[in-house]
Amino acid sequence: MITILKEPSQIITVDTKGKNYKRGKQLKNISLLENHSIVVEDDIIKDIIPNSSVKKNVNKTIINLNGKVVLPGLIEAHTHAAFAGSRANEFKMRLQGKGYEEIAKAGGGINFTVKAVRESSFDDLVELVKPRISYFISRGVTTLEIKSGYGLSYYDEIKLLQVINHLNSINKIDIVPTFLGAHTFPPEYKNDHEKYIEIINNTMIPFIAENKLAVFCDAFCESTAFSAEQVDRIFTAAVENGLKIKLHTEQFNIIGGLDVALKHNATSADHLEVAGDAEVAKIAKSETVAVLLPGVSFFLDYDYAPARKLINENAIVALATDFNPGSSHIADLNLIMSLASLKMGMSIEETISAVTINAAKALDVEKNVGSIEIGKKADFAIFDTNEYSDIVYSVGRNLNCMTIKNGEVIYEV
Ligand code: NIG
Ligand code: FE
Repeated sequence: MITILKEPSQIITVDTKGKNYKRGKQLKNISLLENHSIVVEDDIIKDIIPNSSVKKNVNKTIINLNGKVVLPGLIEAHTHAAFAGSRANEFKMRLQGKGYEEIAKAGGGINFTVKAVRESSFDDLVELVKPRISYFISRGVTTLEIKSGYGLSYYDEIKLLQVINHLNSINKIDIVPTFLGAHTFPPEYKNDHEKYIEIINNTMIPFIAENKLAVFCDAFCESTAFSAEQVDRIFTAAVENGLKIKLHTEQFNIIGGLDVALKHNATSADHLEVAGDAEVAKIAKSETVAVLLPGVSFFLDYDYAPARKLINENAIVALATDFNPGSSHIADLNLIMSLASLKMGMSIEETISAVTINAAKALDVEKNVGSIEIGKKADFAIFDTNEYSDIVYSVGRNLNCMTIKNGEVIYEV
């Protein structure tokens, strides 16, 4: 079936000339096309043609985009959307001056959500996460990563991954599952960290890999969570079992996480709020994507990652929401683009590359999605404006009016 996306005002192709990601100063090149239409055959981009070449043909489906802006479907590369319960209480405590790490140490934080997840059934969790996925779709997201990490037992981590995989099978967008059993130590292993690592390495990882429940293995390398040496052992087991690697690192303290991520050729290293010049230089020289999460800095009101330094040093920079109940209760990738511009000095064009092709690289799907190039998946986010800058300029206002996945309209205002 042929579909024509007819006469948008602008097509932002984020063309990579077949390279499939953007480093450093390439991020600002987003390739703007005017007076063109997109030809889709089934689920694939077949051609991008001048409007004058669009022939009237009854056998084609026409989607009239007159006056609107087309971007590649947005890629959300870092979320903890599979959670239960609310942490509004902690939000109130933080407004009264308590710190995020302080609240976690006092029994709140991640382990508060773990309790709520353990008390929820598979069906409860499916119903909780479903509308969150719809929300992402209504913001133009066509590929969405979701982590486990709030189960922290064999049973509950598998339950969360099964929920995520089930939601992938019933949704039209692609949902990428990540195993985050090493999110923090659960209360029952508070005094026996080795035992919990043994369960992760010898029980959880082999089962998850064998049953293809996750694509990535992630961990949280932080003084309140896992040490670099512990993460190193977990990643060794993960890689041996065929999982790809991501890491939460350099969020509050520099304790060697980035070195471990790079040692294991991590697909991405995420957070980096406190990364210094040495860390910037290391990641910039690697193939590992720096996934920056300005929603966390905004929500917790602390340091922003050194986006400008990373871009100037030639790193592959992506942006994501980190949507979760504690450190970033923000699920709007367009708002993240605005925060990245206003708070980290990224240009509008750089933020577009960071939520499309570079976010695709952070999920290792950049060969299929993330840019509007012939042969790639027909995934698009359509915005109700004639000028792409409005997407970032309209802070907190959703301009996405249509989301197309695999050539099919899956959301329309
Ligand atoms: O990415 N850093 C660790 N994990 C999450 C927060 C999870 C939570 O507070 O529930 C993050 O910020
Ligand atoms: Fe996170």
